[in-house]
Amino acid sequence: MPDLSRMRRDYDQPVLREDDLAATWVEQFDRWFADVVASGAADPNAVVVATADADGAPDARIVLVKGYDEAGFVFGTSYASAKGAQLAVNPRAALVFPWHALQRQVRVTGRVERIGDTASDALWDPRPREAQLAAVASVQSTVVDSRDELEARVRLLDSETPEGSVPRPPVWGGYRVVPETVEFWQGGPGRLHDRLRFVRDDEEGGGWLVQRLAP
Ligand SMILES: Cc1cc2nc3c(=O)[nH]c(=O)nc-3n(C[C@H](O)[C@H](O)[C@H](O)COP(=O)(O)O)c2cc1C
Repeated sequence: MPDLSRMRRDYDQPVLREDDLAATWVEQFDRWFADVVASGAADPNAVVVATADADGAPDARIVLVKGYDEAGFVFGTSYASAKGAQLAVNPRAALVFPWHALQRQVRVTGRVERIGDTASDALWDPRPREAQLAAVASVQSTVVDSRDELEARVRLLDSETPEGSVPRPPVWGGYRVVPETVEFWQGGPGRLHDRLRFVRDDEEGGGWLVQRLAP
């Protein structure tokens, strides 16, 4: 077994000060997202989404964020999936963008809402036909007998569906995570990392506070 206890590296990002932060979380996210894209790191828009069921049992998986703005972060998935069932009873989530290449992570917590048909179509339509067929044929998160069975379903669907785009099934759509907190974490020398968190402040009529957290 490899010796994991010796796997560590020093973090050496410059100190992140309150004065360095953009005025809003979304502008700060813009800056860091541009940095991670420029770094060439794979899947810069991949995010870990944590959800919980009615009993509070946690679950987590990676999805691709397809857009973000002041209103929140949007991803597409099956509403009938495990995450969909969890969000139906407990519409809250936490996100982690794990940007190891830059010694950074962004953590988000918030409410989750469905984005509606028009916005879901906008996520669905650019998907390649192959991906659309797979999404329809695969009843996400259900147990299947075999890979062969899934491939057979895709082939059947392909033969039954006219050339071109596959219609979006109502069970597939987008969710938006509406942030209540957005934390920017950057690894610093001596493990004294920086953590600056935007927190929605309802007292301030929709304003945001910035808090520093101990690392
Ligand atoms: C890099 C990467 C990107 C992914 N993107 C998505 C996505 O955008 N939407 C999605 O439903 N699943 C995506 N998945 C698959 C999910 O991690 C997960 O297997 C699937 O959504 C079922 O999760 P659930 O059973 O918890 O609902 C992605 C996986 C990886 C590794």
